[in-house]
Amino acid sequence: MEKTLSTKNIVLKELNKGEFVSGERLADIAGVSRTAIWKAVRSLRKEGYLIDAITNKGYCISKENDVMTLESLKEALSHYFDEDNIPPVWYFDSIDSTNNELKRMAASCGAIRNAAGDLTTEGIKYHKGTVIAASQTAGKGRLGRSFYSPDKSGVYMSLMYAPKGGIKEPALFTSNASIAVCRALSSLYGLDPKIKWVNDIFVNEKKVCGILTEGVANFESGIIEAAIVGIGINISNGKGFPEEIASVAGSLLGDASITESKREKVTRSELVACVIANLLAIYDAEEAGDKKVLEETLAEYRKRSILIGKTVKVIPVIGNDKSSYEATVLDIDAQAGLVVRLEDGSAKVLKSGEVSLKSANFSKHCDI
Ligand code: BTN
Repeated sequence: MEKTLSTKNIVLKELNKGEFVSGERLADIAGVSRTAIWKAVRSLRKEGYLIDAITNKGYCISKENDVMTLESLKEALSHYFDEDNIPPVWYFDSIDSTNNELKRMAASCGAIRNAAGDLTTEGIKYHKGTVIAASQTAGKGRLGRSFYSPDKSGVYMSLMYAPKGGIKEPALFTSNASIAVCRALSSLYGLDPKIKWVNDIFVNEKKVCGILTEGVANFESGIIEAAIVGIGINISNGKGFPEEIASVAGSLLGDASITESKREKVTRSELVACVIANLLAIYDAEEAGDKKVLEETLAEYRKRSILIGKTVKVIPVIGNDKSSYEATVLDIDAQAGLVVRLEDGSAKVLKSGEVSLKSANFSKHCDI
């Protein structure tokens, strides 16, 4: 983990404040020469940042720039974490799947925790680490589907979390990720996102975010050692969604009624950083056994759920019998299971599966 910000990062942080800053002042802040500042600016420009330079005024970066780089991500994270505590991030312009990349990293590092439950040297590198990509060539969705991940219209990220003792409640882990994303969308864009169990996030009746959580098993201890939570957020409609998802998929800027003042202001790096901060706040509280935070999170999950009280079609995904059946959703239980009443009057808790809504609202959107 990097302990101090690089000159480039410091320059970016200062310029992102939106005012002109002189080379001399930047050199003072970074504790380097003006030549080093000039080199940092040149390097940022090479990465795609539009930086104006005006004699006697200095440098200024436009907020319109939405260039996502490792530097911009670290800078955005520095608003939520102390310099010594910025969680690890890896950035790719394009990758097959951020979940796959993180799994490859985990596989190459051996055990994440030792027999005593402490993080190994390699484990420290990956625990709470996030792989971020501007596009994916083989983005994965739930149940073997693919996830449309074009360049410049979304963010695709996967975070690894390896709590002491392993992942005890996988469903809860996933549902907590949904809340983290909802909180980020609410605080950055002023939105009120809804959740379709387990983890599809809707804004204005369009799915703007999907989450795929995968486990990293430790065969010796027999536990799920870590979870990889993969999150794909559609920011704009880009060139339009493929036909098969066009009626379901939406995007933050394309479909949500975000006020003009917030529309262009949020960069992809700020969105990623805010999601990471919200995720880690919940997961750390969960690991520390903070019941109050967990109860609040679950209560928010129930409040944001679009399924409670609705009639749904349940499509089992495990077991031999895959025939679908109708049920009424009664509640979400303490482990994020879906409590349903069947047609014969009995109740059942669904731990996994696929549910589509049968009522008028969302009917055309949820068969996904
Ligand atoms: C779904 O809606 O079915 C889940 C979609 C999850 C997509 C994200 S994008 C980042 C991460 N990498 C992947 O390949 N998938 C997840």
